[in-house]
Amino acid sequence: MSRTNRADRPYDIVLFGATGFVGTLTAEYLAAHAPEGLRWAIAGRSEAKLRELRQRLPGGTDVGVLRADVADPASLRALAEHARVVATTVGPYVTYGEELVAACADTGTDCLDLTGEPEFVDLTYVRHDARARETGARLVHACGFDSVPHDLGVYFTVRRLPEGVPLRVDGFVTADAAFSGGTFASALNQVARGRRMIAAARDRGRHEPRLIGRRVSAPTGAPRFAPEVGAWALPLPTIDAQVVRRSARALERYGPDFRYREYAAVRRLPVAVGGVAAVGAVLAAAQLPPARRWLSARLKPGEGPGPEKRAKSWFRVRFVGEGGGRRVCTEVAGGDPGYGETAKMFAESAMSLALDDLPPSAGQVTTAVAMGDALTERLRRAGITFRVVATR
Ligand SMILES: NC(=O)c1ccc[n+]([C@@H]2O[C@H](COP(=O)([O-])OP(=O)(O)OC[C@H]3O[C@@H](n4cnc5c(N)ncnc54)[C@H](OP(=O)(O)O)[C@@H]3O)[C@@H](O)[C@H]2O)c1
Repeated sequence: MSRTNRADRPYDIVLFGATGFVGTLTAEYLAAHAPEGLRWAIAGRSEAKLRELRQRLPGGTDVGVLRADVADPASLRALAEHARVVATTVGPYVTYGEELVAACADTGTDCLDLTGEPEFVDLTYVRHDARARETGARLVHACGFDSVPHDLGVYFTVRRLPEGVPLRVDGFVTADAAFSGGTFASALNQVARGRRMIAAARDRGRHEPRLIGRRVSAPTGAPRFAPEVGAWALPLPTIDAQVVRRSARALERYGPDFRYREYAAVRRLPVAVGGVAAVGAVLAAAQLPPARRWLSARLKPGEGPGPEKRAKSWFRVRFVGEGGGRRVCTEVAGGDPGYGETAKMFAESAMSLALDDLPPSAGQVTTAVAMGDALTERLRRAGITFRVVATR
């Protein structure tokens, strides 16, 4: 790996999509928490909107403004060349994200995003991982609630279990929150592209080197009552388990035979049954273009839960890990998962890539592989709980 020399670039971090719902929250977080001397800029397609945002940011006069549009590849290349780290909120990523990843891979620029779209992650792996390894760029997807608490939570759990033995970890997610138009659009888009998602996963499987001498899996668990958390456990069809599986492939510490399963934890059976029926109905409706258009119109891009709803929102992920005769129960918890905490995780990930002394990595890497301990510590200091609940 020959890391591109990036010391002379004008900005440490450029936040692309800063004018969107999560982008604005992330800009506000950076304005409030960036250490003195961090050189950062906001970027987007509308210079007027960016200047208006900058005016509202404390210390905004020191924040740069860059215009870039996903429809203009030269502007994305310029963005990548101006920064050591580019953080993008411009989604749906499978529609808008690839050109920027390509530019970052080619210029040795670290790139992070908030995607929860498996198809996007698989296709960027096939098309851009090799180039990123050559230039030293770290491509870190899913740096929000998808999938930081799960990836770092499993990383935290595994290191409290014995080394060199088979390990089993189950994650149980509980949350009370609402989502934004941007998230809704990305989720509907991914659901409607089911076949392409499966094809991208197969293509990745053909390109990914085989694991030798170790086994790693992340199967979909069956719905069940889980006495270990006193709740009904429903398999969660998110990207989290795939991200955890990739961390486990990359890190020997996860042992010779590792398995992760992720569930939504629901206390009351009628809520569990209703939840499955509602998700099933949305999945079915999203396959039909008129129904998808109707659903999209319910929540528009740029819209999202207001400050009052966000202040009352919360999440908790319990992990139960077993191996080598030991059992540990851990927890990662925080406030509003989709937005307040996502903006925090995203901004802290960007600052970690720009400022922390991290283990060497390049190409498509997970949050645990690229930033494990450093990001966990940052998030703890920022108020997200990582704790051991019980051991046996
Ligand atoms: N759990 C998680 O990890 C999590 C949580 C929240 C969000 N997300 C994801 O984050 C993404 C953003 O969500 P959001 O709610 O913030 O969406 P949003 O409010 O719709 O913001 C999208 C941003 O993209 C920009 N954009 C759109 N088209 C563009 C183009 N052609 N060129 C440049 N910029 C363009 C928009 O600019 P304008 O302001 O000019 O329109 C806006 O800044 C979504 O993919 C969502 O799924 C993930």
